[in-house]
Amino acid sequence: MSDKPVRVAAIGYGNRSRKYLQYVEEYPDQVQLAAVVDSNPLRLHEAQKKFGLDDQYCFSSIDDFFAQPLPIDGVVIGTPDHLHYGPCMAALDMGYRVLLEKPVSQTLEECEQILLRSEERQIPVTVCYVLRYHPYFKKLKSILARGDLGRLISINHTVNVGIDRTTHSYVRGLWNNSNTSTPIMLAKCCHDIDLINWYSGSRPKRVFSSGSLTWFHGKNAPKDSARRCCDCPCEESCPFSAIDLYLRRGEWTKNFTVPNGMTLHDVLWEEMRHGPYGRCVYHCDNNVADHQILSMEMENGVLVNLTMNCFTLNDGRLIELKCAFGEIVANEHSIIVTNFKTQKSEVHDFDSTNQPSLHVTADIGTMKEFIASFNHTCDEDIPSLQSAIDSHKTCFATEESRLTGRAIEL
Ligand SMILES: NC(=O)c1ccc[n+]([C@@H]2O[C@H](COP(=O)([O-])OP(=O)(O)OC[C@H]3O[C@@H](n4cnc5c(N)ncnc54)[C@H](O)[C@@H]3O)[C@@H](O)[C@H]2O)c1
Repeated sequence: MSDKPVRVAAIGYGNRSRKYLQYVEEYPDQVQLAAVVDSNPLRLHEAQKKFGLDDQYCFSSIDDFFAQPLPIDGVVIGTPDHLHYGPCMAALDMGYRVLLEKPVSQTLEECEQILLRSEERQIPVTVCYVLRYHPYFKKLKSILARGDLGRLISINHTVNVGIDRTTHSYVRGLWNNSNTSTPIMLAKCCHDIDLINWYSGSRPKRVFSSGSLTWFHGKNAPKDSARRCCDCPCEESCPFSAIDLYLRRGEWTKNFTVPNGMTLHDVLWEEMRHGPYGRCVYHCDNNVADHQILSMEMENGVLVNLTMNCFTLNDGRLIELKCAFGEIVANEHSIIVTNFKTQKSEVHDFDSTNQPSLHVTADIGTMKEFIASFNHTCDEDIPSLQSAIDSHKTCFATEESRLTGRAIEL
């Protein structure tokens, strides 16, 4: 490794970028935050204070940030989905290496333009497919690669979204409408398609999907319900109450910015009265599916079933890999590998690895590999931009299949 720390800029200092920047805090000898961009003055100020940045390296506008070359090596792009394409193209033009939040972009055309620019400039773009950098998901790949279970025949993959995440993100929140964001298969399950491609060592040949927005629309609203939970006579008995989620249980509140002189409680009440997160789940502008299934036939013959469930208390993934001589069952706590011949099982326990959470371990692993990539000491298994875009392509085809009722050949 070179002696000098890698210098990165954060474009967007929100929930995701902060996760990656934890690595900067922990390993200042490897990486420094040299500049930050955020249109939210509170967030910008917070980053400036935390990382001790001079004013000249703090930008409220993305255009101002790219207006002149800066002494940086790379950028972490953690802006909302519609602000991935522009900053990524500009970063490549400036010669900065990119860690880019998923989705790569909201359309396939823009994804392909980013790929082309990255190839032309010969500058890598690393997509935040964070699960790829997690020891648990890597272990699954290494068990398959051992060969003792024989050929992979089929995959059953279940994504439990969790009801709180569903109402926060996919009913009231930023990813609730495919016209303004993306289909839920891309927003939520692009990680899963990428894992399936990785585990099978192949790509989908044909996809078929069905699913719909079954529950979260006006026809299911209780009689007498109001447009907002704070005005609703059904609030106390409703399992989807925003007041219960944010104020009583205090879940999903980290993304609300608290201005000076206000408390989180004040901000949340203001949101309940006027903001999108205080809306009744039956009266939102959402259109994305709330349950969906996908069947895929891979080019190498592996068959895949993926189920996305929003109606689950907890979130998490259950992965079953069926091989010719044995099977693997992975539930995020452990991986159980059973051999048909010996009829014995080996158990790999991951509860301690996933502290404080599976996502945090994955996020830190992602930043670690990104930084290592500047010195060519990264894990050879890191996904290429091309493979990330392949998984996006599958997600768009899945949505086409769901909407048309047809199988789509890829
Ligand atoms: N890899 C994953 O597992 C994963 C998980 C969740 C979200 N995401 C993706 O990460 C991205 C960021 O999501 P988040 O939850 O951190 O959102 P966020 O809202 O917490 O952060 C986005 C930040 O960008 C800033 N911003 C918005 N517009 C801007 C502009 N014009 N100029 C400069 N800054 C601007 C906002 O002020 C905010 O601080 C999204 O694309 C999302 O889809 C990825």
